[in-house]
Amino acid sequence: MKKPWSGRFSQKTSEALESFTESISFDRKLWKHDIAGSIAHAKMLAKQRIITSKESASIIAGLSETAEAIRRGKFRFSPELEDVHMNIESSLTDRIGDPGRKLHTARSRNDQVALDLRLYLREQMHNIIALIRKLQKTFVAMAEQHQDTVMPGYTHLQRAQPVLLAHHLLAYVEMFQRDRDRFRDCLRRTDSCPLGSCALAGTSLPTDRAYTAKLLGFSQVSGNSIDAVSDRDFALEFLSCTAISMMHLSRLAEELILWSTEEFGFLEISDRFTTGSSIMPQKKNPDVMELMRGKTGRVYGNLMALLTLMKGLPLAYNRDMQEDKLPVFDSAETLTACLSVLLKMMKGVKFNITRLKETAAGGYATATDIAEYLVRKGVPFRAAHEITGRIVLSCISRNIPLTSLSLRELRAFSPALSADVLAVLDPAASVKARSSFGGTSPSEVKRQLRHYRRLLR
Ligand code: ARG
Repeated sequence: MKKPWSGRFSQKTSEALESFTESISFDRKLWKHDIAGSIAHAKMLAKQRIITSKESASIIAGLSETAEAIRRGKFRFSPELEDVHMNIESSLTDRIGDPGRKLHTARSRNDQVALDLRLYLREQMHNIIALIRKLQKTFVAMAEQHQDTVMPGYTHLQRAQPVLLAHHLLAYVEMFQRDRDRFRDCLRRTDSCPLGSCALAGTSLPTDRAYTAKLLGFSQVSGNSIDAVSDRDFALEFLSCTAISMMHLSRLAEELILWSTEEFGFLEISDRFTTGSSIMPQKKNPDVMELMRGKTGRVYGNLMALLTLMKGLPLAYNRDMQEDKLPVFDSAETLTACLSVLLKMMKGVKFNITRLKETAAGGYATATDIAEYLVRKGVPFRAAHEITGRIVLSCISRNIPLTSLSLRELRAFSPALSADVLAVLDPAASVKARSSFGGTSPSEVKRQLRHYRRLLR
């Protein structure tokens, strides 16, 4: 197959080079975006009378035929034509002849690939944002169901203070909100059209870059042709947003794994999203969550791969940059897959309300409530902390819960303790009392729910 750049060469390309340099095996994913870019470019060339409107129409018809062939799986992508751009251009010329050879006027594969990647990421990010939003809705719905499910909150994975399960679930809704905001922010900078920057220096032909940008739905046109073909910041930002999102999903996965153990017994993941063991008949394993946690490592690696790939590159385009697509595609697809499976899986998660409540009552989780009670009676917090610590120590040595202490026993620790202290030892009362803004009290949880119900409407 004849290369579009063969004019300057007198020897045939080595087969070893061909298989080494090709990107069609992965960048074929960009075919739709590549064709969309070419159609806009052809329209602009005609509007500017750089080609005739007849030629433009013929190019657009040819590209549409190619699109149809690819869609139907009737297109042969060939590695000798290196990449998606040359494969599509060559098929166009095969279909319509000479007008096809005019399409590449006033553009280069360098601005073309920058454009394709931006179009691809724009689409992926819109989809990811919509999926995260759905996940938030699922979590809000679960939180509504658990507005009075008390559970132990942890620090250092040691029981700390009772919280509402709704509050814990809403913590994820907040994380997801920031994830969504980050992608939206990244979209703003991805929304800049590099097409028309050509190889690096722009063109002497009378193009209208604003017109192409408008046709492709961009709100900005890149302002410096060298930067436009060299810049992959938008892809790095995307990989960073993806890595942070995956980190959140991985923490969730870890909690679901831990909480579904018999040792915790806080929840059960449905049979449909767990797997069995080939040898141990009793097993029900949270593989989906483990894979989500595991894939997070790969997504982090993708960010590091592109950062490292870019760091030593002189301006403008270098072929190294062809390697940007593999990590970008992988992170986009991995996050999308994780969000999609999680959406389905969460609907089948059943919390063990009794177990959560019992666990919240144990482990001296309401000790802070005694200390805060003493503070209300005028005891300085440091003294209150010390007194309560001694109460806890005495209970631990006798292996009894705080609730077993009689008033007489309690008063031996501090005369500031009276009968009403018993009320603060109840986990539900403890939760109810934490009504500071953003706290775990039912009233604060209701406020958060109202906020997100409105936001996600
Ligand atoms: N396949 C190339 C890439 O993905 C397209 C740009 C090639 N440009 C060049 N001058 N060789 O980066």
